[in-house]
Amino acid sequence: KNNISNIMVIFGGTGDLTHRKLMPALYNLKYQKILPENFAVVSIGRRDKTEEQYRKEVLESVKNYSRFDIDEKVWQDLSERIYYKRFDFVYDNGYMELSSFLKELDEKYNTKGNRVYYLAVAPEYFGIIVEKLYRHGMVNNETSWQRVVIEKPFGEDLESARKLNKIITDVFTERNTYRIDHYLGKEMLQNIMIIRFANVFFEPVWNRRYIDNVQISSNEIVGIENRGGYYEKAGALRDMVQNHMLQLLTLTAMEPPVNLDTESIRDEKVKVLKSLEIFTPEAVEKNVVRGQYAGYRQEDKVSPTSSTETFVALKVHVENFRWAGVPFYIRTGKRMPEKSTQIVIQFKPLPGILYFKEYKNLLPNLLVIKIQPEEGVKLQFNAKVPGAGDITIQPVNMDFCQNCQISNNSPEAYERLLYDVMRGDSTLFTRWDEVEYSWKFVDAIAEAWKDKTPDFPNYQPGTWGPKEANELLLRDNRMWWNV
Ligand code: BG6
Repeated sequence: KNNISNIMVIFGGTGDLTHRKLMPALYNLKYQKILPENFAVVSIGRRDKTEEQYRKEVLESVKNYSRFDIDEKVWQDLSERIYYKRFDFVYDNGYMELSSFLKELDEKYNTKGNRVYYLAVAPEYFGIIVEKLYRHGMVNNETSWQRVVIEKPFGEDLESARKLNKIITDVFTERNTYRIDHYLGKEMLQNIMIIRFANVFFEPVWNRRYIDNVQISSNEIVGIENRGGYYEKAGALRDMVQNHMLQLLTLTAMEPPVNLDTESIRDEKVKVLKSLEIFTPEAVEKNVVRGQYAGYRQEDKVSPTSSTETFVALKVHVENFRWAGVPFYIRTGKRMPEKSTQIVIQFKPLPGILYFKEYKNLLPNLLVIKIQPEEGVKLQFNAKVPGAGDITIQPVNMDFCQNCQISNNSPEAYERLLYDVMRGDSTLFTRWDEVEYSWKFVDAIAEAWKDKTPDFPNYQPGTWGPKEANELLLRDNRMWWNV
């Protein structure tokens, strides 16, 4: 069962995700000789096209989105393993053909019945595809493995997520269910545990005694990019907070796991999500800010009176011994001044004697974990400005830039994630209970928002969101660090 040979079946083979992320990732894996020798891809879409056409389109995508140049030999070897099948996922006949086609390919590529079923389709099709795969005997083969990869969103609230999960886990076991959160595939997210647990100067101070607050931001310059249909229903809360932002928080706040096994790590992560305070409607009013950029309502497939949020800022506590009293501020938005994802740990001041007495304006120590586009770690501390006369103190930085010093060509999240599915490592995927507890947290906010019409739009594109987002911190005598 450890054999990584497989056929990857992509539902949604003509879609954006397949072209922008999945195919370039497969090419990159092939380029680095990581892709198994015995391998093929079957893309399924509803559009009519020949294999030749499809391969050409994939080549264009690989050219546009791969981090490596096209190597003729590598591309040749990959492209002849890419197949295209057209059928509508809701009808049975396509699945019957698929089943026998996959068996043929097993013979040709010696893939032994191993399958990755990748559902890169709209969420309403997740259930039906899984059921049909089962009905047509393409799952639960004793001598081989079959895994399913589910793209987000995993439900739109707790209830729908539960229903979806039931349908999927009736067919695939939890072990064979890979729920994607592509943030977990990013290099610097995988680095958070190492920074915390492999360094003596971080781990001992990583708690309420030394940390004043934590700020987790993911800012984007882009707007909703023609995704109006999807985004209107999701909003920033479901699109970013429920998954990516809470994963960032979880990795920052978790206890050290007892070992590095998949389930040990996930056990600690889920404890953080369980410890999140669940907001009352009053707390939502006070601690959660929503925003919409001016111009959103004029985007394609967006209602002219839409109350969908494109920005969220919130303050939450992790109610456990390590973090009691330490606010975690989360912020994410579209049409912000810059593209950046980072975690800022702000440390408490030292006792108010010596320098902290004399110099009222000393800045706090900061540890900044930069996730993207720059990858690295920055430590801000106080030092003397050289010179005779009165002492002047100013903040200085120790700066580790990973993409300047180690590599300027970090693997794409999807490379890592696709490879992990093939080798059966689900550490970087979301376990069901993580999904469950994050929806609990998010549902309380969505519920409180439902009955109140927000005063939208409330921020200009290219700004840091509505002014209430700043007030959220100012009120606590703090500020967002845009460092
Ligand atoms: C996706 C969201 O999950 O993440 C998008 O649906 C968002 O709206 C994207 O733009 C951000 O990802 P990244 O990797 O660019 O930070």
